[in-house]
This record gives sequence, structure tokens and C-alpha cells, in this order.
Amino acid sequence: MTTRKTVRIAMNGVTGRMGYRQHLVRSILAIREQGGLDLGDGTVLWPEPVLVGRREHALRALAERHGLDQEAVATDLDAVLADDSIDIYFDSQVTLAREEALTRAIAAGKHIYTEKPTATGLDGALRLARQARDAGIKHGVVQDKLFLPGLRKLKRLVDGGFFGRILSIRGEFGYWVFEGDWQAAQRPSWNYRSEDGGGIVVDMFPHWEYVLHDIFGRVETVQALAATHIPERWDEQGKPYQATADDAAYGVFELAGGAIAQINSSWAVRVNRDELVEFQVDGTEGSAVAGLRNCRAQHRSSTPKPVWNPDLPATEVFRDQWQQVPDNEEFDNGFKAQWELFLRHVVLDEPYSWDLLAGARGVQLAELGLRSSAEGRRLTVPELSL
Ligand SMILES: NC(=O)c1ccc[n+]([C@@H]2O[C@H](COP(=O)([O-])OP(=O)(O)OC[C@H]3O[C@@H](n4cnc5c(N)ncnc54)[C@H](O)[C@@H]3O)[C@@H](O)[C@H]2O)c1
Repeated sequence: MTTRKTVRIAMNGVTGRMGYRQHLVRSILAIREQGGLDLGDGTVLWPEPVLVGRREHALRALAERHGLDQEAVATDLDAVLADDSIDIYFDSQVTLAREEALTRAIAAGKHIYTEKPTATGLDGALRLARQARDAGIKHGVVQDKLFLPGLRKLKRLVDGGFFGRILSIRGEFGYWVFEGDWQAAQRPSWNYRSEDGGGIVVDMFPHWEYVLHDIFGRVETVQALAATHIPERWDEQGKPYQATADDAAYGVFELAGGAIAQINSSWAVRVNRDELVEFQVDGTEGSAVAGLRNCRAQHRSSTPKPVWNPDLPATEVFRDQWQQVPDNEEFDNGFKAQWELFLRHVVLDEPYSWDLLAGARGVQLAELGLRSSAEGRRLTVPELSL
């Protein structure tokens, strides 16, 4: 006999790209479709979303499309936060709107789960983390890339000692985001205006921070060059606007333990890779290339010995000399996997390290990355504490 325990989650920003697809449909609704989250003690956790936003008709349409209660939509955040039956506040609004909403939700005593970046500056991000600690609530920040199959397999190689001493990590992230004139842009226009919280450094450095920190070691220094390669774009209404935010960033990060990471991030690059992001890791004992889903490896014992000779065509197909790292387990959607761990943290008090302090580290790296670029120098990344 199982008992069902309902957890009510106010989801703010569900009409957006991430809020709708990854968090509502692929995570919360997917957990309901699987019959809830089995806690293993005879209890099944049943997430009950309340859709929060500014446009009631859009929220109602979403509720209808997914068979949710028409009453479970709200446009008044204060009323939602005053509702004692709401356990968790989730935020996937545009970045600029986040800090204020989180501050109010923490003050109302809600547990917090939020998209990154948690704030637009380090001061604000730390303020949130301190406020959450003082309020004694549970808090989590989306760090989805850690839950992707490719990176899980890469972490498995690291944990198994495959690499020996890790020397370097090269990350290549990006794809062409259309300018919006002759083909519609595939990302919202606010991403390209710094006054609206946009920019690739603010967007992607928080991801690189937790990927590097959790898999390889804390980021100790950053040196970045941010650029705006495409200065004019066209918005959702087809109107031209000035792209004031950086759309590419070339970053070098020194990690605790001595490895050096170099990550290119760009929305102005065409893909000649197997996946939209790939990390090559080279170590004394072996190397690996991990993407979102796949990971291939080459051990030192099977490393070929190419000889530099530009007079001859390449005699080897280098890509064929790598071995696929097998899945060996089933991988769920990364966002859903992290949601499930967060829900268990809330209900069962299981440990959870991807919290607002971890989120603040991501904001810190973005802030220092932009400063490094503006000042043209390498900066130390101080260790954060509350
Ligand atoms: N984890 C990831 O991989 C990942 C990927 C992309 C974006 N994100 C983050 O998710 C957040 C949302 O990004 P998105 O791409 O879904 O954006 P989006 O523009 O598609 O959605 C933004 C949402 O915020 C709402 N909103 C609230 N106040 C707003 C305002 N003043 N102006 C405009 N919209 C407002 C919109 O209605 C919408 O629901 C961002 O903070 C972004 O950094 C995370």
C-alpha cells in the first residue's frame, strides 16, 4: 500500500523556452506520467504545479493543453507566495527578474529551485544564499549539464582514474544563432542585449563553473575575451536592434589540481563537431572527448604516433582511433534527474550540493570573466563562503 504525498510547486516562467520544455514538460509532467516520484519507503511524491506568470490566457492555455487544473494558474506572485499550501517556488523567468522574485519567495518561507544565473551580480547572488541559509529553507540551482549522459560518462572516467594526471580540458560550445532578418532567431532577443540581462558570459560561464568544479576542480583563475561579433540583430517582431551583449567568449581557466581549461563559447560559429558542446580532456594516461550524450576515449596504450609531414596526405583516420565509452546505465533527462534529487532533498532531507552558494560561484565566474575581458588581464577567483 503506497501513500501519495503531494508537493505543490509554484512555477514562474513556464511560458518561456526552458520553463516550458525542460522544467514543466520534461521534468514535472514527466514525473507525473511515471506515476510520481517513488521515495522507496512506501511513499510516492506527487508534484502539483501552479503555473505563475504575467499573461493569464497563456497560462490557462498551457494548463488546458496538459490537463492541469484551470485553478492552478496565477498572475499575482504575492498571493501565490502567501498561500501556505505552496511548498516550493521555482523560477525560470528572464534573468533580470529572478533576484527580486527569489528574495520574495525566500522571505515567504518557500523552498527555492531556480534556473541559473541566480542573480546578475555576485553581491545579489550571495545575498540570496545568505537569506536562504538564515530562513532555513531548502534551495537548489539548475546545473543540468552535470546530469547529461556524456558528462556523466566523463565523470565516471575521472572517478575511475582513467586519465592519470589531467593536463587540460578544451571545451567548444556554440552554434549559429540566426540574426533574425531573413530567418527567425532561435533564441529570445533579450539574450543579445546586456541591459536586459543578456550575454554569453552571463549565460554560459555559470555552466562552465559547475562543470569544471564538480568534475575537475575549483576554478582558481579566469582570463576571458568577450566579443560581440554580430552587432545588429532582429527581434521577435522583426524589428532591428543593437546587440549590446557579448555573443562569444574565449576563456582560459586554471583549476585546483593544476589542469588548465580553455572553453570557447559562441553564438556566431557554425558546427563542425559531433555535438553542440564538446570537451576534450587530455591526461597522462589517456584522453576523452565528451559531448551531451556521447563520450569516446583513447588510452595511452592505444595512442597512435602521428608524424608531422605536411607534404603527405593524412594516412590515418584519427577519429576512428577512439573507443565509445558505454552507457552502462539508463540516463534520464538531465533536468528531470536533478529535479528528482531536489525533491528528495526537500522531502527526505537527502544531501544536495547544487544550492544557492554553488549558484553564486557561477555568477562570480561570469562577473570576473567580464571584468577580465574589460581589463585585459587574468583574475584570481576568490573562494566564496557565506
Ligand atoms: N539551464 C540551461 O541550460 C538554460 C538554458 C537557457 C536558459 N536558461 C536560463 O533560463 C532563464 C529563461 O531563459 P529562456 O531561454 O527560457 O527565456 P524565455 O525568454 O524563453 O522565457 C522567459 C520567461 O520569463 C518570463 N518573464 C518574466 N518577466 C519577464 C520580462 N520582464 N520580460 C520578458 N519575459 C519575462 C516570460 O514570460 C517567460 O516565461 C534565463 O535565466 C536563462 O539564463 C538556462
